[in-house]
Amino acid sequence: MKKWNVYVTRMLPQSAIDLLKQECNVEVNPKDRVLSKAELLKEVQGRDAILCLLTDTIDADVIAAASKAKIFANYAVGFDNIDLKAAAEKGVYVTNTPGVLTETTADLAWALLFAVARRVVEADTYTRDCKFKGWGPLLFLGQDVTGKTLGIIGTGRIGSSFGRKAKGFEMKIIYHDVKRNEEFEREVGAIYVDKTTLLKEADFVSLHVPLLPSTTHLIGKNEFSLMKKTAILINTSRGPVVDEKALVEALNEGVIWGAGLDVYEDEPRLSEGLMQAKNAVILPHIASASIETRTKMALLAVNNILAAKRGEVPPNCVNR
Ligand code: DGY
Repeated sequence: MKKWNVYVTRMLPQSAIDLLKQECNVEVNPKDRVLSKAELLKEVQGRDAILCLLTDTIDADVIAAASKAKIFANYAVGFDNIDLKAAAEKGVYVTNTPGVLTETTADLAWALLFAVARRVVEADTYTRDCKFKGWGPLLFLGQDVTGKTLGIIGTGRIGSSFGRKAKGFEMKIIYHDVKRNEEFEREVGAIYVDKTTLLKEADFVSLHVPLLPSTTHLIGKNEFSLMKKTAILINTSRGPVVDEKALVEALNEGVIWGAGLDVYEDEPRLSEGLMQAKNAVILPHIASASIETRTKMALLAVNNILAAKRGEVPPNCVNR
């Protein structure tokens, strides 16, 4: 069988590249940075498959330039960076990497929740700055987690996993989604509520929705005004789900108590004031960044390409 020409837009775990090389001619972007649009337009030409990242904007121009491509295999569960309609029009498969990053991403949402609630990052910086002069009754007072009310918006794979992990902390779980998730209710005793009720009652609000026109700015000024003054917002989904300017205002004005963020509206840029907000923990989009998971994601993306090469519908096709 003829070898495919595959372009990989960023260095990935080597075991996956090695697997791909067994059946394909592979070129990997050697620069450890996101390609510019001009570079992307050039590199995709003449390729049978492109293994791309959530940081690559695969728009109609890129899809047209990749006139030989049969598949764009995205190295992410989210695929809002790809113009699915343009891909469908050209008969090009788009695939993602679901499942393998569920637990890792949900774990990080918990890490953020605890970091904000117990002011872990602020306290660490304080200690490193040699300011720790002994135990203090009022030093870094935070919010309890155990026994509180957890509000989950979006109960797909990651949101459900996040909820399951709450069991050990004896929390009341309320959730909102476009439709009820009865399996999740049975599993963790979660209660379905409308968005307003969730925002009013939850001590912690964690977002787990895909980025769609209907979820863009799902949380903005009005939503913050409904939340408790002691509430914490966690976002490991996509940045534009939150109106970041309104978030900065809510954090600065004490409308909510804090936020734990892994994603931003215009990555890698942060809205003015966010960097200075001490009540926010801000991470560089690392929710799926464990050694094991990033390898599994790469292998999944490669297997999608190899399936397309065999003439099969790739297992994680999102535009069948
Ligand atoms: C995804 O896969 O969509 C995540 O955001 C990657 O960390």
